[in-house]
Amino acid sequence: MSLAAKAILLWSVDILGSKWPIFTLSSRMRTCNLNFSTSSSTQVTRCFDEDCDDFLPWLEKRAGTEISSVLSIAKSAYGRSLYASKSIEVGDFMLRIPLNVQLSPCNLLPEINDMLSDNVGDVTKLAIVVLFEQRMGLNSDWAPYISRLPHPEEMHNTIFWSQKELAMIRPSTLYHQTMWKNMHIHNEFLSAKPALDCYTGTSGQFDFDDFRHAYALVESRAWRSTKGVYLIPFADFLNHDGLSETIVLYDDHTGQSEQVIADQKYAPGEQVFIRYGKFSNATLLLDFGFALPHNNHDEVTIHVKIPHHGSPLSVRKMELLKRFTPNINKDVHNFHSSWDSFTIREVKSAKGKGKGIPQSLRAFARVICCTSSQELDELENEASKGDGRIARLPLRNSSKEIEAHKFLLSQITLLITEYISSLKSIETTTLLCMTDKYTLRKKMARDLLIGEVRILKSASDWLKNYCVQLLDL
Ligand SMILES: *[C@@H]1O[C@H](CO)[C@@H](O)[C@H](O)[C@H]1NC(C)=O
Ligand SMILES: *[C@@H]1O[C@H](CO)[C@@H](O)[C@H](O)[C@H]1NC(C)=O
Repeated sequence: MSLAAKAILLWSVDILGSKWPIFTLSSRMRTCNLNFSTSSSTQVTRCFDEDCDDFLPWLEKRAGTEISSVLSIAKSAYGRSLYASKSIEVGDFMLRIPLNVQLSPCNLLPEINDMLSDNVGDVTKLAIVVLFEQRMGLNSDWAPYISRLPHPEEMHNTIFWSQKELAMIRPSTLYHQTMWKNMHIHNEFLSAKPALDCYTGTSGQFDFDDFRHAYALVESRAWRSTKGVYLIPFADFLNHDGLSETIVLYDDHTGQSEQVIADQKYAPGEQVFIRYGKFSNATLLLDFGFALPHNNHDEVTIHVKIPHHGSPLSVRKMELLKRFTPNINKDVHNFHSSWDSFTIREVKSAKGKGKGIPQSLRAFARVICCTSSQELDELENEASKGDGRIARLPLRNSSKEIEAHKFLLSQITLLITEYISSLKSIETTTLLCMTDKYTLRKKMARDLLIGEVRILKSASDWLKNYCVQLLDL
């Protein structure tokens, strides 16, 4: 399993210049605070919850050092967030959190660690740490932190959705990703269970729901850096803004702390955001339980089926496509690694170059539309002589080229129909008792589908235009 950070982050050189020691990037693995606001809105949220006030002093006492003099916690409608308590300038250290107040798999009781099988990963180990701290309640040394982590009913990651709620996003790949993820977490649970049961005895067993909650907390709040997977109290109250350039840095030089430096000015009372990574709405919903309006990083993953599956010609096509797909893009969850899945982004202009529709998808369609093994031979020859990738150039026979793109168009049109009918049924479904939770998830499902269908339509417009242009030649 590689939960490696997906985040490719930018840093402005003036901040990271020689002034600072060597930092490595710590990336949020995935999920986090519930935050539905996006831009750096300036609303000042008062802390109605007195426990916000004692958290930082507790942590600083424990750390034996100051953690932040410019930030304070406030509770917004969507969970705890960090606000500027004083003016912050670009380049200021906003917080510095020493290792001794971070939670890692090293905090696992040695008795349990020894019993765990080797294939149990770091996320699971850290989830087990959280489980035991939760169970200790007020007796836990970490109680002030652990008790402030969101409860399952406050989390809206799609893994927590019911079957009925998930049915709303049936056409989206997120539906399958969610299934996959639940299965994955279940497998992790099964591999850890013997050790857990052995330690707790039969009376105090953890069940799958307990484990899944802890696992989701870790996945959504932990950071991964060169030193491993860590929960970083306080820093994990920072909310995500896809446009922010601020990130969490590990000080490799001293190896002692994790820090956040401001990349913009903040006035007192403004919420401070960082970017967890460049995530689409689907990823945000899967791992963090929220989506963003105007998400620049949106994309749709589509799965293309080969027609006449099983015929000798289609078997050959499949073999060619697999062989000539060089570096299959490995998604964090290995989900998009399949050779017949493609990630489409919004195509800005129907008359432009079609940036957003991957070349590999068009190549796929060209291979799929071959009707004889001679045509496949030609493509194969061309690939071996060229750069080793198959069907990257337009087919010489323009009717064939049109056919290939019409095939794509038909697949996408079909998908759009499915999205539209799902959206209709979301609108018309009314439950007898609409809970807030259901209403919120319904909105999330709707936003996801609307965003994805917009991307699909932009691709379909481009394909239509491409075919018309070829016809005119
Ligand atoms: C081009 O493709 C079309 C449609 O598959 C086919 O009917 C036609 O014979 C092809 N033309 C040439 C020159 O191969
Ligand atoms: C992402 O979700 C937001 C809000 O939840 C929605 O407004 C938006 O249309 C979605 N997609 C894109 C591409 O922004």
